[in-house]
Amino acid sequence: MVAISATDRVFVLTGAGVSAESGIPTFRGVNGLWRNYRIEEVASPDAWRHDPRLVWEFYSMRRRVAASATPNPAHLALASLEQKLGERLFLCTQNVDDLHDQAGSIRVVHMHGELFKSRCDTCSRAPFRDTNTYDPPAELPRCDCGGRIRPHICWFGEVPFELDRIFRALDECTVFIAAGTSGVVEPAASFVAHVGGRARTIYVGAEEPANASAFTECHLGKAGEVLPLLADSIQ
Ligand code: APR
Repeated sequence: MVAISATDRVFVLTGAGVSAESGIPTFRGVNGLWRNYRIEEVASPDAWRHDPRLVWEFYSMRRRVAASATPNPAHLALASLEQKLGERLFLCTQNVDDLHDQAGSIRVVHMHGELFKSRCDTCSRAPFRDTNTYDPPAELPRCDCGGRIRPHICWFGEVPFELDRIFRALDECTVFIAAGTSGVVEPAASFVAHVGGRARTIYVGAEEPANASAFTECHLGKAGEVLPLLADSIQ
């Protein structure tokens, strides 16, 4: 499957396809609609300014779906890979669910934020764990500073989290694996091009991603079936 040497440094990027077998819908596989809203219409600073209640309704729905999901073999395979490789594995996820963490992955970089965290949209209070749902007619949560409490999610038009750390890991990696991501949302879609000819690049997913040509290897299939095989092949 994938021969990893004792000195290889592996960067893994996961997307919604890795959580699909846990019952969490992907964005584009189901044409990315929620109640006839495109994801970009409810996950953006404009949506927040215009209709914070609708935004909280959307994220409350996503919290309920994610809360009833459990890790699938894809998440477990990546947790076991971290056991084998230790700090030679860098796991970066676009997913905001906590299934990698639940599966036992210790070092997970959530570049698009975390569904079960909220933060104040005004003061510099640190993001905090929040599993609450806020559906109409519930009052929207407020910070002591008077600001509104928002989901700790990177919205369209905002800068993803920990990019310095991510690009350092990209520069150091010798193997780049992307799993379950359509390869259309930046900057994650360009990570594979960034590692370019310097690293082996492997895609694992149900269908070819938009950036398929940038990968040296493509393993089509369900993440829950392919990633365990890949992790087992790595000693
Ligand atoms: N196993 C592997 N891949 C799968 C599976 C599966 N069981 N089911 C679906 N897929 C693939 C689809 O073929 C698709 O290529 O997962 C990919 C999911 O693509 P998207 O829905 O676009 O999700 P993702 O690439 O993670 O989206 C990136 O866009 O909406 C924003 O911030 C959001 O993080 C998200 C970002």
